Amino acid sequence: MKKQRTFIFKCSSCGHEEPKWLGRCPECGEWNTLTETPITGRGTAKASGSSRALPQSFPLSSVDPLEGSRIASGIGELDRVLGGGIMKSSAILVGGEPGIGKSTLLLQAAAAADTKGRILYISGEESAGQIRMRADRLGIMGAGTKGERIEIFCSGNLEEIQTILEASKPVLIIVDSAQTLFSSEAGLVPGTINQMKYCSWDLISWVKEHDAALFLVAHVTKDGLISGPKSLEHMVDTVLYFEGASSAASDGDCRFLRAAKNRFGSVDEIGIFTMGEKGLSIVEDPSLLFLVRREGELPPGVATAAVLEGSRTLLVEIQALTVPAKGAMSRVFSDRIDSARVSRVAATIEKHLGLRLSDQDLYINVAGGIRIAEVGVELALACAIYSARTSIPLPAKTAIAGELSLAGEVRPLRRQPGRVKAARNLGFDSFLGPAPNESGTGYMGVHDIKSAIKSVF
Ligand code: TYD
Ligand code: MG
Repeated sequence: MKKQRTFIFKCSSCGHEEPKWLGRCPECGEWNTLTETPITGRGTAKASGSSRALPQSFPLSSVDPLEGSRIASGIGELDRVLGGGIMKSSAILVGGEPGIGKSTLLLQAAAAADTKGRILYISGEESAGQIRMRADRLGIMGAGTKGERIEIFCSGNLEEIQTILEASKPVLIIVDSAQTLFSSEAGLVPGTINQMKYCSWDLISWVKEHDAALFLVAHVTKDGLISGPKSLEHMVDTVLYFEGASSAASDGDCRFLRAAKNRFGSVDEIGIFTMGEKGLSIVEDPSLLFLVRREGELPPGVATAAVLEGSRTLLVEIQALTVPAKGAMSRVFSDRIDSARVSRVAATIEKHLGLRLSDQDLYINVAGGIRIAEVGVELALACAIYSARTSIPLPAKTAIAGELSLAGEVRPLRRQPGRVKAARNLGFDSFLGPAPNESGTGYMGVHDIKSAIKSVF
């Protein structure tokens, strides 16, 4: 019989384990960090596990559904993105660039959350004084306010955090941030991915066992989603990303909260906030937030699209610019609408309207900087590109929504009447969209891109 191994090689930097010695750790890339470690600890864990009761499966029908056990965060836009509040026994990852407002959002939620249980804010990044200063600025402190009940603990030490959790049994835990968590169990160097995963998993397990909810903050850097927060996504129930843009219609900076994963709701909804003097506030009517108010004629290359973001309609200004290509190949510059979509719409125009675009560089922008992924933007995009190329402006006060097929057809959309209504409410008296005609005057229903262009230009 093969002799059972009694040791492995463990990296002293990140905790990675290898069956044989290597000069360099394949996980963290450090040299000479693998050391021989006995695996007695694991053996005993297994042995003690066997003394417990045998695992058993049970009928699904005997399980209480989780439905209904949600805590309202007190911030409508956050609840909307979460699918109706913070689910108990769940872990929510909140990612975003540094300075975007993650700590602000979660401190505001901690103050407003509709629970009588304890709320614990754990910060490994800021001192207690800094958090207090922010809380004062947000106006959540003072007699009678709910901010009084927030408890804070400023450390990333997992063992200390565990002690506090056991002692105070909070129902809502905010960890700011996952990157500052460390444990002596998971290697010697704090801040490694292994540390973050190990500690996060421990906290996630704790909330699942104690019917609490956990917010884990994770920083994401500008140059792409580094492996850090991404590696936590599969462990949590919900992943939210916080991103920013500047709004044309409001004074403060706009912030969008999007769900990238949600076990308890849809990922279509976005939360819209503005960051102001007193922290994040909710935008009452976001439909006009991205609208540029213009007097008189529109400049060429500008079209207004009525797009859906979750359950809401937004009116956004699409801007297009075409210039003769500088290189042998024409290029598309568009970071708010997927470049592949822009290229496809441009090719459709070229083919079905005979308007040459393949020798042009194409620049596309969305006013306010919001990213638009909804298919209904295509007809407005086509009109903006056509208008830019021909220098003929679109008529003012016309909103557009429609999907464009490669065959040049304008395809029907979901919730078209809602879009028309939202546009009318904002003073758009005509609307270009797929046939048949909607009830009410001012709706131009078209079957294909040719008749669409004919009816607006
Ligand atoms: P913060 O929540 O610290 O960001 P993160 O945790 O994502 O790193 O937000 C920091 C920014 O928000 C900072 O630039 C200051 C600004 N801010 C306001 O404009 N108003 C406020 O009331 C607060 C608290 C912050
Ligand atoms: Mg922060």
